[in-house]
Amino acid sequence: MGKKIGVVTGGGDCPGLNAVIRAIVKAGDMQGFTTIGIRGGFDGLLTPVRADPLTVRDMDGLLIRGGTILGTANSGRFSSKTGQGETRKISADLMTQVQQTIEALGLNALVVIGGDGTLTTALQMYESGLPVIGVPKTIDNDLDATQQTFGFDTAVACAVDALDRLHSTAQSHNRVMVLEVMGRYAGWIAAYAGLAGGADIILIPEIKFNMPAIEKKIRAREATGKLFTIVIVAEGAKLDDTMVVSDDDKTDREIRLGGIGYAIAEKIQENTGKESRCVVLGHLQRGGPPTHWDRQLCTRFGVQAVDMAANGNFGKMVALKPSGMMGSVHLKDAVNRIRTVDPDGELILTARTLGICFGD
Ligand code: F6P
Repeated sequence: MGKKIGVVTGGGDCPGLNAVIRAIVKAGDMQGFTTIGIRGGFDGLLTPVRADPLTVRDMDGLLIRGGTILGTANSGRFSSKTGQGETRKISADLMTQVQQTIEALGLNALVVIGGDGTLTTALQMYESGLPVIGVPKTIDNDLDATQQTFGFDTAVACAVDALDRLHSTAQSHNRVMVLEVMGRYAGWIAAYAGLAGGADIILIPEIKFNMPAIEKKIRAREATGKLFTIVIVAEGAKLDDTMVVSDDDKTDREIRLGGIGYAIAEKIQENTGKESRCVVLGHLQRGGPPTHWDRQLCTRFGVQAVDMAANGNFGKMVALKPSGMMGSVHLKDAVNRIRTVDPDGELILTARTLGICFGD
């Protein structure tokens, strides 16, 4: 019987998932593997099993296509994360079913492409004896064990494009424009996009902010004749020390953040008298074709995952090392270690040097 790699995508979708799948199928083919695509996230491993072979021909056009051809889920029975630092054990019965399917399909390896939540489930699968390999995905860029996750660069590009557009409308109307971006408990998207998109105020979960400091910055700009202000805020930034949660249900998924942008715009308008508007960028950040950076990262991640499958290197996650080279790290050292923005790091200091305000 030929060698087989199963591939499954889990968690929220993210630009570049298809590019990783493509790299696995093509590199796998070169190394004598057939790739089996599992449909609909981990649920595709339960009866009725949804799994079929993916051919090199099926990969045409996938390098640039957003989303995942396999489908995904960030809630349900395989959800092992419900909040910051809160994990849940997947039931032994589900694990047994997954094990049986993997045996029935004859998979030599299961490549799991996902973020912290999905990889936490992958670790539990590995610990129950399955030949699992992880690939780090998330626009949030919050996994500590890799220098970068794929999808992040594309999300930042989307946020920068939004800031460019907001600049001209803010300037025309002398308004304050607030852009709320994703990122969950980390401020990477807001920090990078704010710097690259020329935001005047950047608000992130890692830096405690207060409204008077924000208003002071807006007034200081007015005093120099700059009658508009651009604010970018991460969804996880804390207003009065509290995250704004749009849905706190965590029965079988993580809580949903969102709404801080509107709250801030309202307060700014109330306290400064400046007309203010909020735009929530939302899932636009997760859609569309990956940037050239994400395409190469996805391709390298996919090829590395196949190499690991060929070498029986299981229980590990593919990672971009500080050297810029591909490598791997144990899943147990990769999950539940959130990487956040260093408030005293070079990125933030650079922004401060330019006079960008962090509301502190
Ligand atoms: O983790 C990726 C992410 O896009 C977060 O930035 C965001 O908080 C969350 O997923 C949104 O999830 P959903 O697609 O369920 O609204």
